[in-house]
Amino acid sequence: MIDVEKIRQDFPMFSSHPGLVYFDNGATTFKPRCVIDAVTEFYVSGTSNVHRGDYPIAIEADRHYDESRKTIAKFLNCEPKEVVFTAGATASMNQIAYGFAHNFLKAGDVILTTEAEHASNLLPWYRLEHEFGIKVEYIPVDRQGVCHIEDVEKAIHPSVKAIAIAHVTNVLGSVQPVKEIAELAHRNGIYVIVDGAQSVPHRPTDVRDLDVDFLAFSSHKMCGPGGVGILYGKYDLLQKMDPMMLGGGMNARFQSCGDMQLKQAPEKFEAGTPNIEGVIGVGAAAGYLMSIGMEEIHAYEKELRKYFADKMKQLENIEFYNPDNETGPVTFNAKGVFAQDGAGYLATKDIAVRSGNHCAKILHEVIGTDQTIRASLYFYNTKEEVDRFVEAAKEISVENAISFLF
Ligand code: ALA
Repeated sequence: MIDVEKIRQDFPMFSSHPGLVYFDNGATTFKPRCVIDAVTEFYVSGTSNVHRGDYPIAIEADRHYDESRKTIAKFLNCEPKEVVFTAGATASMNQIAYGFAHNFLKAGDVILTTEAEHASNLLPWYRLEHEFGIKVEYIPVDRQGVCHIEDVEKAIHPSVKAIAIAHVTNVLGSVQPVKEIAELAHRNGIYVIVDGAQSVPHRPTDVRDLDVDFLAFSSHKMCGPGGVGILYGKYDLLQKMDPMMLGGGMNARFQSCGDMQLKQAPEKFEAGTPNIEGVIGVGAAAGYLMSIGMEEIHAYEKELRKYFADKMKQLENIEFYNPDNETGPVTFNAKGVFAQDGAGYLATKDIAVRSGNHCAKILHEVIGTDQTIRASLYFYNTKEEVDRFVEAAKEISVENAISFLF
């Protein structure tokens, strides 16, 4: 059971901004003291590079860095060698696409995805379309962005080589049947690539159970520092995949003729000095989330989301795009009001949300608008905050949303 009042004390942002209702957790989350301390400690007393130094501070930094990989492996139920640290979920997706282009696909092969995806799970595939003759096709989704297994089955044909899909979409919070998709895909010799940016922070993620081939997510959306992402891959696939970045730390040797021998995964994907403090911080974040319990976090958010959705459904001025999704953001517009004006009005009430297209620029083909207000929750939000939000949302109107500007 989540003790939300106690949890909020772990996050200094709440005391720095008393009264702020922060419902922009889909964009980034607040950081608990233990993550801030882990990063600060590295700067204050542990600064050195990793995997390069033979003196005590460097060896200690290696230990913290490698421990973090083990913590993430525990968090995902995989082997540490299957965890690659990247610069973010976007970097992870681009690495996967690069590997697919160079190691797993040929011209004419098809990647299946959906129109509800974030840019980072579309643009890397579009580039393969332009540069390598790979084709992108879409699995239909319903009005709330959910993809149904029968439609995945219908979309599969012999040229499909991979399905790239968000476990939870970033605008509508649609939960996709990733485990069923992986089962179906693997029966047809198809790889499954999952964008976990909006799922991993909010629900238990067991990559063995889901049996996905690749999973990408970022640290900053799960209480960790910015600039760090994770790329999980089944080890044999990581071994077969070429790194997008070449440089120090990832090669075993190279010669003046240009021959090079790379290290094994995961090191071969971590060229250059990594974001060491970020990696240490994301380990602390995963440890913190596990200490609360991902099941508990998921259950709490589900209940809070239902409480929120039930109230928003009552508001006559609101067009609500994802009333039935169980988790994820509450996404809406006030009738006749441009989303950014609505968000600006909420800001005058000390409420933070995101508005616009949220980087999902073809979702309008599903929901009929490319501008929405997205209120995204995390386990430190409360029913009192939801009540304040709903009172403010009730007041968004053409007059209010414009008059606040003057
Ligand atoms: N990808 C993040 C979002 O959906 C930034 O807001």
